[in-house]
Amino acid sequence: MQKILVTGAFGQIGSELTPALQAKYGADNVIALGHSNIPPSFKGVVETAEITDMVALEAVITKYHIDTVFHLVSILSAKGEKDPSLTWKINMEGLKNVLDLAVKHKLQVFWPSTIAAFGPTTPKDQTPQDTIMQPTTMYGVSKVAGENLCHYYFLKYGVDVRSVRYPGVISWKTPPGGGTSDYAVAIFYEGLKSGKYECFVNEKTTIPMMYIDDAIRGTIEIMEAPKEKVALGLSYNLAAVSFSAEELATEVNKHLKVDVTYKPDYRQTIADSWPKSLDDSKARTDWGWKHEIDLTKMTTIMIDALKENLPNG
Ligand code: SER
Repeated sequence: MQKILVTGAFGQIGSELTPALQAKYGADNVIALGHSNIPPSFKGVVETAEITDMVALEAVITKYHIDTVFHLVSILSAKGEKDPSLTWKINMEGLKNVLDLAVKHKLQVFWPSTIAAFGPTTPKDQTPQDTIMQPTTMYGVSKVAGENLCHYYFLKYGVDVRSVRYPGVISWKTPPGGGTSDYAVAIFYEGLKSGKYECFVNEKTTIPMMYIDDAIRGTIEIMEAPKEKVALGLSYNLAAVSFSAEELATEVNKHLKVDVTYKPDYRQTIADSWPKSLDDSKARTDWGWKHEIDLTKMTTIMIDALKENLPNG
């Protein structure tokens, strides 16, 4: 990793991965690709090519002699259901462009999959690495297809593409938006703003979750792991903690008074189709994955950070 391109650099993961890579590899060696939500405070090299524009994308790769791509651009589960065709286009064309350019320019690629790649027919508890994958959202469909595409490009062209299935990621730098797991972020934003939160899934809803610092560390670790330790072209289950919406509300209320009510909408069906917990022993064995942050710690970090940083907070 000497010259790095991060696509989706200003999304939930990119907003934190980009500075982490800048700190590690030097700000000049990390190119942030994105066209919306670019914070005025961002310091670094920015390019604005569309992920579906192969010519523009290749021009960026050539211009900076890129050797590694963290391809994060994606429309998430809840937003994806509003426009499934666009979701397919952005998620699949974008990935195929990156993989084709990886063949041509010998790039190493990181691409995230997700718990949303599973569906209602998947075993829910300690979901195995290899199991039934019949997702019921376009986001999930694009992620299963993407997993297969990565595997194909590894088998056919030997592309060094590495991947993990992220759980719901909890972070504070970007406001909650297009994801189903975002209730676990919104509770902090709304709780601090108004002391109330109307949760869009019911209190018993339990899905795997992870604090962003663990997600970023895991992402960099799998990319830095020796080639022989990583199953290339495979998306590894990656887990940290699982808790219900109610358990999260209880933990938050240890720090601040938030009146949480529950009004499930279409996102309930999505959350219900996902695993409750993941078996990530393959990641732990192969390249030494280990999470560090539990529910108690992430709650404290989120509240402390948002108290400082929430506009009018
Ligand atoms: N955070 C994602 C979502 O909710 C899951 O990968 O869509």
